Amino acid sequence: MKIISIVGARPQFIKCAPVSTELRKKHEEILIHTGQHYDNELSAVFFEELEIPKPDYNLGVGSGLHGGQTGKILIAVEKVLLKEAPDMVIVYGDTNSTLAGALAAAKLHIKLAHVEAGLRSFDRRMPEEINRVLTDHASDILFCPTQTAVENLKKEGVVGIYNVGDVMFDALLHNKEIAENKSTILEDSGLGHKQYLVATIHRPSNTDDKRNLQNIVDAFCEVDETIIFPVHPRTAKYLEEYGLYEKLKKHAKLIKPLGYLDFLKLMAHARKILTDSGGVQKEAYMLKVPCITLRTNTEWIETVEDGWNVLVGVNKERIIRMVNEFVPDIMQRNVFGDGKASGRVVKIVGE
Ligand code: UD1
Ligand code: UDP
Repeated sequence: MKIISIVGARPQFIKCAPVSTELRKKHEEILIHTGQHYDNELSAVFFEELEIPKPDYNLGVGSGLHGGQTGKILIAVEKVLLKEAPDMVIVYGDTNSTLAGALAAAKLHIKLAHVEAGLRSFDRRMPEEINRVLTDHASDILFCPTQTAVENLKKEGVVGIYNVGDVMFDALLHNKEIAENKSTILEDSGLGHKQYLVATIHRPSNTDDKRNLQNIVDAFCEVDETIIFPVHPRTAKYLEEYGLYEKLKKHAKLIKPLGYLDFLKLMAHARKILTDSGGVQKEAYMLKVPCITLRTNTEWIETVEDGWNVLVGVNKERIIRMVNEFVPDIMQRNVFGDGKASGRVVKIVGE
């Protein structure tokens, strides 16, 4: 079969890597990079480290408002789909690249598969939630990472649902040892095992809102811990704009976004992780590192139910208290599958 995979943002490069490897054993894959993320540390580094094939098309769409960015991707993807006439399109996750790719395929009646289907935060103010719901409802094949995702879709009356496990678990298992051996991030930064916290923040509700970002910065400044904080460009922009960058810099080690291998090693050896990222919440659980999530909801509810993740919102006192007091439960269920999700995706695609 001729299959077009569409990616555009950091987490999608990680999700597509293991699937692409499996897919190319049996099918012709054409890779479209929408260009939503374009900085080296948000894009090229993942292609190099994860040995993802060079995209056949880079649409170079870049940043913009939601409508403009989604629209530009839709127009550009449609042209490629008309030219290539694939048998199937695969989209990943919940970004504007996901929705635009899904719409382009569905409108052309090309079979559409969604990897990481069925996730719901039930918060329609999150841009990702709109992208997830619309993409799922436009898709023919829905690859769910968890049983919760399957149940969400069943309630919405969607058909074509498969619980394959989480492809990010495949990526993590494949790269953990490689990261351990290759990355020198701990030595380079003078960090000892379990001697520091890792933080990532990039949700618009936390970055764009001055009061929320201020609360987060205040909390990070008050905790008596070494915090390593790879700063997403959206966050860097607002920290500067709100005059918070210099203050935070005195208390946390602010660094550029890291490649996957460095970040994986940094997470694996951290005492705790502070984040509002979807992927990082899961990876913390997979690595058995306690996670403090700076949101009031999560689509990865199993991590909370199992006692490895706690939702603290942006309440300064609660963030500080959980940094000091949060202790995870011992037991974990096997909620993200067995690390062989990509093989299942490809098997189902070929049926
Ligand atoms: C996007 C996704 C989000 C995902 C995140 C992963 C949407 C709606 N959001 O959020 O779901 O969790 O990617 O990281 O699709 N910028 C750069 N360089 C880049 C890319 C972006 O400087 O290479 C800056 C620009 O100022 C841009 C801002 O970051 O306006 C936000 O980028 P954008 O892709 O719109 O959204 P993210 O916040 O990255
Ligand atoms: N990540 C990375 N370097 C960083 C921060 C995150 O490689 O500096 C990885 C992380 O391991 C995870 C993914 O990026 O696999 C998560 O992406 P992000 O937080 O940008 O998006 P989300 O998962 O919230 O959509």
